[in-house]
Amino acid sequence: ARKIILDCDPGHDDAVAMILALGNPAIDLLGITTIGGNQTLAKVTRNAQSMLAVCGREDVPLHAGCVRPLVRALEVAPGIHGESGLDGVDLPEPTVAVAETHAVDFIIDTVMAHEPGTVTLVPTGPLTNIALAVRKEPRIAERVQEVVLMGGGYHTGNWSAVAEFNIIVDPEAAHIVMNEAWPLTMVGLDLTHQALVTADVEERIRAIGSECADVVLGLMAFFRQAYRENQGFDDPPVHDPCTVAYLIDPAVMTTRKVPLDVELRGELTVGMTVADFRVPPPADCTTQVAVDLDRERFWDLVIDAIAAVSRP
Ligand code: BDR
Ligand code: CA
Repeated sequence: ARKIILDCDPGHDDAVAMILALGNPAIDLLGITTIGGNQTLAKVTRNAQSMLAVCGREDVPLHAGCVRPLVRALEVAPGIHGESGLDGVDLPEPTVAVAETHAVDFIIDTVMAHEPGTVTLVPTGPLTNIALAVRKEPRIAERVQEVVLMGGGYHTGNWSAVAEFNIIVDPEAAHIVMNEAWPLTMVGLDLTHQALVTADVEERIRAIGSECADVVLGLMAFFRQAYRENQGFDDPPVHDPCTVAYLIDPAVMTTRKVPLDVELRGELTVGMTVADFRVPPPADCTTQVAVDLDRERFWDLVIDAIAAVSRP
């Protein structure tokens, strides 16, 4: 199984990413780390605790990370995720404690304790924790297997005309992460806007008939309304689980190798992820972007995982 650390800010789609990581046997979830993003660190950490309770998984270590971006003030997204960060359901009380160690140290310690090339980082929120980890312990850059992140977009934005939320919230952190030597896959909006919760998907989730399925349905109903009102979508896109799905089955998406960088100074373009498609990528290019999603494969994975996780 692929050993991963999920660095997230739950967050409706982060919650689905957690379920997929917990419910698929091809993933060995070494720990969950949290980052202020969709809501404050306190709220998203509490949400992660509640989702672990929903999935009946008290065995997975949970570490809280940074409360704010490296340089800028934290901007949260109540219009998309509500005041709690997971509006739409009554979540259970936490059953698992938040570990003492800071997320940044947990990431470093875990990567350094495992064989080189065996731990994958999966960030689905702002990249502050990952950036600090690689600055504090640069050796993790050559030690991680790869970084598969949700963020950015090479032809589209959602928080500005050209920038995506996870990147524009902490562009300096994203700049650090994208310019390290590790193999990196950017699963951006170009891909995740193909992962729409359509009516037939909702039907399949309803047919599972479990507590976890009900939680997902409640979350998706809120997410649908928020995306209708604020982003002009009929069906909401579940961005974050696309990263985990790719690690379970790379055939779930096509990718393209391309040099990537992040704009830090543009008046209109700060936080834009810039992919240079002009020429074939240089031989030493370590970055790639996600292009096309196999929707059927993707939803089969998510729905199987929802069915697999349930409270004992
Ligand atoms: C990203 O921003 C957050 O609102 C979602 O959880 C996802 O990680 C999409 O732009
Ligand atoms: Ca997220």
